[in-house]
Amino acid sequence: MSVEIIKKTAPSLEERGLSKIEVLHKAKRVDNDEFFTRYEDIEKELDMYPQSVWKNKVVFCNCDDAVDDNNDKRRTSAFALYFLQNFNRLGLKNLICTHYEGKVNMFHHGAKGYIFTKEGYREGKKVFPSNYTGSYDDALSLKILHENADIVCTNPPFSSAIDYWRTIIESGKKFLIISNIVSAISTAYIPYFIANKVWAGYNEVDWFLTHKRELTRAAGYWFTNIPIKTRPMSKQLKIMPLKEIPEKHKRYDDNKILLVDNCFIPSDYKNSFAVSARPILNGLLEKGYKIVHDKQYDPPVNGNICFKRVLVKKV
Ligand SMILES: C[S@@+](CC[C@H](N)C(=O)[O-])C[C@H]1O[C@@H](n2cnc3c(N)ncnc32)[C@H](O)[C@@H]1O
Repeated sequence: MSVEIIKKTAPSLEERGLSKIEVLHKAKRVDNDEFFTRYEDIEKELDMYPQSVWKNKVVFCNCDDAVDDNNDKRRTSAFALYFLQNFNRLGLKNLICTHYEGKVNMFHHGAKGYIFTKEGYREGKKVFPSNYTGSYDDALSLKILHENADIVCTNPPFSSAIDYWRTIIESGKKFLIISNIVSAISTAYIPYFIANKVWAGYNEVDWFLTHKRELTRAAGYWFTNIPIKTRPMSKQLKIMPLKEIPEKHKRYDDNKILLVDNCFIPSDYKNSFAVSARPILNGLLEKGYKIVHDKQYDPPVNGNICFKRVLVKKV
């Protein structure tokens, strides 16, 4: 099933005269936490993982994944909805969802944080602990994370993404979360990719829903530490000798660092070279290449810095 769309507000990229990369950069600047994830994006990604990943597991949705008492899907987070509707098929042990008492009350569930728990075949129930904010870093949420959760799954607030990633990764729990595409080449997250503590999931997330349930462009991607069996997107990588890479897709910056784009990757280049987020998302690090610098790389071209990259090298 999918959340009903009232109207499509965003014109196509072509209509807006924008390239995908411009949208990507724009989306990065948008500091708006208040977007909903579409049910179909959750279904598309989560259905890629085998049932053994979910069987007998406690799933924790900890970023305002509200659950409506009357099963109103417009007042329920699509994450909660997906896990409730597929609880038996996935063989889940428990589902725990928290509601955040933020300034904007996206799901119209009142200002008080709560914890919704469904244990096995029992009906789900809510508790409203005193002084509980519903924040992912509230002491009670952290207790659930550390003591109860097996898999964390949500779309966290963009404004807290750095701290959220740290919290989840340090917990050692499995996770499957949505973040901005550029996380794959941003200084705050690169060390996790180097340490193989996170990798891209299967899909990008191109649309979110606003509080009016209107579509809005997104530059999201799934990130996880759950094993990926096959990576269909790796077919997008064009790994070949440097001299075969078309001239328009390779150049050197002012530091004489090789820049390649459009997922062209040199197979015979001994030095470090710079790539965008896309090859990382498409599985470059699983193809015998590694990130060699733990900070983003901003290539100077004719004295200008116009885009961000990460430095990689053939192992
Ligand atoms: C991108 S929205 C996603 C909402 C919902 N998880 C979904 O996917 O539809 C991020 C949500 O996190 C909430 N939020 C903001 N700060 C939070 C925090 N510290 N702890 C938990 N949730 C928070 C926001 O209010 C917002 O509802």
